Amino acid sequence: MNKTVLNNEIQKRRTFAIISHPDAGKTTLTEKLLLYGGALELAGSVTAKKKQSATSSDWMELEKKRGISISSTVLQFDFEGFKLNLLDTPGHKDFSEDTYRVLMAVDFVIMVIDAGKGIESQTLKLFEICRKRDVPIFTFINKLDRPSLPPLDLIDELEKVLNIHAYPANWPLDNGPEFKGVFDRLKKEFNLFERVPGGSYRVPVALRDASDPFIKEILHSETFKDINEELEMLEVAQEGFDHEAVLSGKTTPVFFGSAVNNFGVELLLKNLIKYSCPPVARTINGKPFPMDSSVFSAFIFKIQTNMDPRHRDRMVFARICSGKFTRDMTIINTRSKKEVRLSSSHTMFGRDREITEEAYPGDIIGFVTNADFSIGDTISSDPSVAFNEIPRFAPECFAYLLNSTMSAAKSFRKGLDHLLAEHIVQCFYLNNNVGMPLLGAVGPLQFEILQYRLRDEYSTETRLEMKQWEVMRWLPLGITGSELEGALPYNSTFGCDDQNRHVLFFQNQWGMKSFQKDHPDIELYDNPPVQPDKDI
Ligand code: G4P
Repeated sequence: MNKTVLNNEIQKRRTFAIISHPDAGKTTLTEKLLLYGGALELAGSVTAKKKQSATSSDWMELEKKRGISISSTVLQFDFEGFKLNLLDTPGHKDFSEDTYRVLMAVDFVIMVIDAGKGIESQTLKLFEICRKRDVPIFTFINKLDRPSLPPLDLIDELEKVLNIHAYPANWPLDNGPEFKGVFDRLKKEFNLFERVPGGSYRVPVALRDASDPFIKEILHSETFKDINEELEMLEVAQEGFDHEAVLSGKTTPVFFGSAVNNFGVELLLKNLIKYSCPPVARTINGKPFPMDSSVFSAFIFKIQTNMDPRHRDRMVFARICSGKFTRDMTIINTRSKKEVRLSSSHTMFGRDREITEEAYPGDIIGFVTNADFSIGDTISSDPSVAFNEIPRFAPECFAYLLNSTMSAAKSFRKGLDHLLAEHIVQCFYLNNNVGMPLLGAVGPLQFEILQYRLRDEYSTETRLEMKQWEVMRWLPLGITGSELEGALPYNSTFGCDDQNRHVLFFQNQWGMKSFQKDHPDIELYDNPPVQPDKDI
């Protein structure tokens, strides 16, 4: 394909995810982005689906309950000539390693914060993952229509807790019932808020010049004075808007609004297009692989079985890294060297699939297959292309899984082997013992999914025996856990992962910190140390 045409397609793409603490408004914002992108006729369908929620935490129920917010669902929509790929990151109790892996497949994120609550635990965790890759982070402070924390405190909290420079791209005019809109600091104009019943259509926005006396009229005199002082203070205290710093993840532009009322969403979207980045090249041995290469390549970041209960199938999700994808293309899994024809490739809209005719770097394709694929595999038209592996993350829950249907020992083993290959949970062995594997998960839902699938697909009932460790760290290469046995704090132990890399298990953070204090020379890692040359 002509490089110019390919590059044009790449430049048009934006691939991102939304991160937030549960209830901050991620689903609502997703829905409103789709509304502004013209992909949803009438907002309200997402939350309406959510409302049909069942209380069961069973995996399929979870999918149903979340409506379009299914783990790794990819939504593609257009906005002002751009193609946006929004990858959903499941949060809350369905928090799992999946969430982390999805973040490996995006180029930037929107972080949603509840204006009444500020930064909450889940946001912090997800933020840290994004921070490691230095991806641009756009902050949307939501629910300004409710009583909110003072905006300066929110900015201060972002800077102190997240250790990132926060640049308010706009500034709220009051909050709660008095919320009047925002002042766009980049364009120097006021965007006035009009309440829309039910938030079901695009909100009309009245634009006013910064010197317009109308603004003074609609605000209480004290509030008007405070806002002017705050704006002046920001001008003095902060340097101007630095786009480069946004692209390198050092500065987060901050937008205030109210997603449920559609307010501030369009402004966010417009700025996102303007200041975010097109797809970023992925690396091979530390070197970016050119996206406009004639070689098609993609990496697999998610495998999901039973996406469609009517078909009971296995969907593999891959992010395209170079070249052009066309329907029915034959690719090579560069790990197994096997050829596979991608005849069932789809782009996703919620649970609905659409056949993908063509796709470009930054796009996500999902294909149905029974062939051998693993998370992190590279698929390519060139067998020599292999992207760096997707990092693993330190689990925080551990358990042994016991088979309670003894007659099904064979299917239990087979099912567990298959599901471990899908990286649903991680696998460890204690004290270098190759006996029963100790399973590790970032969140307990991963165990639930494992049990659900063993029951559903392998007719095996299982029982979990939870273990007391909450913190696990990888040791540096060359140090074994057994060497440290005598030096470990109470209730800690050692072992290795499924690739024989040595690890320590601590009862809690306190245990890990006390070990670190006694052994400052031993660095502990929250993802496996990599051999030189194999960096991510
Ligand atoms: P999540 O995906 O991050 O978990 O959050 P979600 O969008 O589901 O929003 C959580 C709750 O916050 C919802 O209320 C939603 O309507 C509300 N919300 C979202 N944005 C705003 C906003 O800008 N202002 C106000 N006041 N509320 C907002 P709910 O009662 O749980 O559901 P529903 O009955 O409203 O659908």
